[in-house]
Amino acid sequence: MKHVLYLFAFMAIAFNGAAQFNRQAMDSIRQLSEADHQHMMSLLHIDSLRPGPSGNPQAPNAANADEGKANPYSNYPDPLILKNGQKVTTAKMWWNKRRPEIVADFNREVYGKVPDHLPKVTWEVASTVKEMNASVAVVTKKLIGHVDNTSYPSIKVDMDLTLTTPAAAKGPVPVIMEFGFVFPPGFKMPPPPPGTPVQTGPDWKQQLLAKGWGYAVLIPTSYQADNGAGLTQGIIGLVNKGQPRQPDDWGALRAWAWGASRALDYFETDKDVDAAQVGIEGLSRFGKAAAVTMAYDPRFAIAFIGSSGAGGVKLLRRVFGEQVENLASSAEYHWFAGNFIKYAGPLTPNDLPVDAHELVALCAPRPVFISTGSPAVEGNWVDDKGMFLGGVYAGPVYQLLGKKDLGTTEMPPLETPLINGDIAFRQHSGGHTTGPNWPTFIEFASRYLKAK
Ligand code: GCU
Repeated sequence: MKHVLYLFAFMAIAFNGAAQFNRQAMDSIRQLSEADHQHMMSLLHIDSLRPGPSGNPQAPNAANADEGKANPYSNYPDPLILKNGQKVTTAKMWWNKRRPEIVADFNREVYGKVPDHLPKVTWEVASTVKEMNASVAVVTKKLIGHVDNTSYPSIKVDMDLTLTTPAAAKGPVPVIMEFGFVFPPGFKMPPPPPGTPVQTGPDWKQQLLAKGWGYAVLIPTSYQADNGAGLTQGIIGLVNKGQPRQPDDWGALRAWAWGASRALDYFETDKDVDAAQVGIEGLSRFGKAAAVTMAYDPRFAIAFIGSSGAGGVKLLRRVFGEQVENLASSAEYHWFAGNFIKYAGPLTPNDLPVDAHELVALCAPRPVFISTGSPAVEGNWVDDKGMFLGGVYAGPVYQLLGKKDLGTTEMPPLETPLINGDIAFRQHSGGHTTGPNWPTFIEFASRYLKAK
């Protein structure tokens, strides 16, 4: 139980940023989020929602962690059957018919649709610094993405991006971009739960530099807050001119992914980056964002999706760990379209027109690495097996497009890399982090990305 409490303590501290020191600010965010959530429920004519289970395994309403009870729902949509019942047998049918159907469903019911007209982003190189990362000379650029707000000047949005490439590079290099967390000043990570393997050796940035690749960190909360109160601000609020969302408007996950695409626009103009070889990585809510980014922007070459859980690549129909009811609550609904709330009452997850394996399928034929930690350390909330199966059930789409699936439908033992196909999976023995999976991800990615 300790690890789960740790996870929640960590989340509460890390995601509320500096607000943790200001109870009043936190209360006000909570109240405004609840009011916006309520407003969305009234737009949907919903009076009440089913509450989600608890992440505390000791609680009387603890989330299910019994595999025997995980599968009450059978209505998994087949990514290769058209809505009219016809079987998808060619790549052309996938691209022209089935994929657009799946995208439309995700847009309307799950993540929301991105507005047709979005403001332009102008990237400013705020600073360029030559520095050392361990023994490697690097060039680090701090970038600010100024979002054009002439349509609604009272909302100002500046995107925060940092790019680092090896100084000795002879040409443009592959870059992996992470969705980064912001920690408030003075923040100290709580000690890791017992059983967490100690990590030594080069960190992920240094591992990438050792390949001759670069890295970037994009701060998603610089352009869309991680709460419902923020939906009338940031890029979503700017486009809506400060008004609340309609039920099929985009949520934070698509907004965060939009920002990653704007960062990639910048990389296309930077001679140090090979923009055809840019990957996206994220953990947890930002693992969900990494999956959404990869699914919607075909320019991303590879994705490293860390412990994304429900709302990411974990099958939503599995009753194990976090549930749709949790995602639909006032604490998390802002990640999604308002319409998604319906599946926590009156509808059920079994009524969803799509499921998470189809999010993975939208990434096809490009390589995707699904990462998770050990249940003993990370807990069961993320549902490792649900994420593994998200990869498994996307397999037929990869195969149709001439690529390789995971190669098995059996959940492998801890620390077994499944990296021979174009969908990859590994469960490391640590907690809620992508850390221990970086070497395996880089090995997988090396099949696709090359420094010239
Ligand atoms: C909570 C939430 C998850 C999310 C996680 C995180 O645990 O329920 O859906 O992924 O926070 O972002 O760490």
